[in-house]
Amino acid sequence: MLLTQDAPTATRPADPAFLRDIVQGLSAARKATPPIWFYDRRGSELFEDITNLPEYYPTRTETALLQRHGADFARAIGRGRAVVEFGAGSARKTPHLLRAIDPAAYVPIDISGDFLRASSSVLARSFPALPVLPLVGDFNGPLTLPAQVDGLPRLGFFPGSTIGNMEPSAAVDLLRAMRDLLGDDAMLLIGMDRIKDRDRLIAAYDDAQGVTAAFNLNLAKRINRELEGDLPVDGLAHRAIWNDDKARVEMHLEAIRPLHFHVAGHCFTMAAGETIHTESSHKYGPRDARLLLRAGGWNPVEEWTDAEGLFSLMLARAS
Ligand code: AVI
Repeated sequence: MLLTQDAPTATRPADPAFLRDIVQGLSAARKATPPIWFYDRRGSELFEDITNLPEYYPTRTETALLQRHGADFARAIGRGRAVVEFGAGSARKTPHLLRAIDPAAYVPIDISGDFLRASSSVLARSFPALPVLPLVGDFNGPLTLPAQVDGLPRLGFFPGSTIGNMEPSAAVDLLRAMRDLLGDDAMLLIGMDRIKDRDRLIAAYDDAQGVTAAFNLNLAKRINRELEGDLPVDGLAHRAIWNDDKARVEMHLEAIRPLHFHVAGHCFTMAAGETIHTESSHKYGPRDARLLLRAGGWNPVEEWTDAEGLFSLMLARAS
């Protein structure tokens, strides 16, 4: 996933949804902010850097699965579908899938129009015979597919384990919305990160080079820049913890001393040790993953995982 949200300029005011989410999130008894706001230009660059870190196994493991199982995808999915990718971003993994299944069209969906157009034209050059039909939009909201894919069977593609950044109830809602959008004869290929050794999980979200820490702290810098904030960034520390009860890695920004700050004219305080919960990354065991898919209106068909069982690609059919 790579959603680059454009920064406000002198003529464009701060995004009102960003303002609302941050003020609401910081006003709650347990401070928490939605992870979508990580992805300004700098946040997106830092996320790209994360995907190349030795500790961050999901991207390279999923890419290797896509490379290795082309023949399996061809057999299980077949040719001639319209591939609809949710949160396409740079679509770096997509060519492996497209080469394997020879689709009739490709619809990448992303919230950032500039970014989507750029990555779509790169992809269209590599697949000159494939209609590439970018759709600018938020896949968490209502969407209408381009008329060119009317009547074509669809394959939803949702790589990267982005589903894990949602609360399970929101994940089920999204899967249902995808199923409604894609239709009765649709299939879905989705990446899910597996539950594994705690130390391995923590290292993936608290790397030795401090890139994930910079990614987390960039949110505070963005708030200061775009929302007239004065969060003392040097008073916040990156924390990654494994919440075993909820099977998720949580990222927090922890106050290392008592803090008092403002955002858009609102005053906030944090006691030393208090945190802002900035992201949850849910991990799914094989049964949990199948349960989630079924609850979301999809029947699991097949799944592929690496030798260590770190990450899985699940194929499902609309139920
Ligand atoms: C985008 N998403 C799937 C990443 C994840 O692993 O939850 C975001 C991320 N946060 C810290 N590192 C990566």
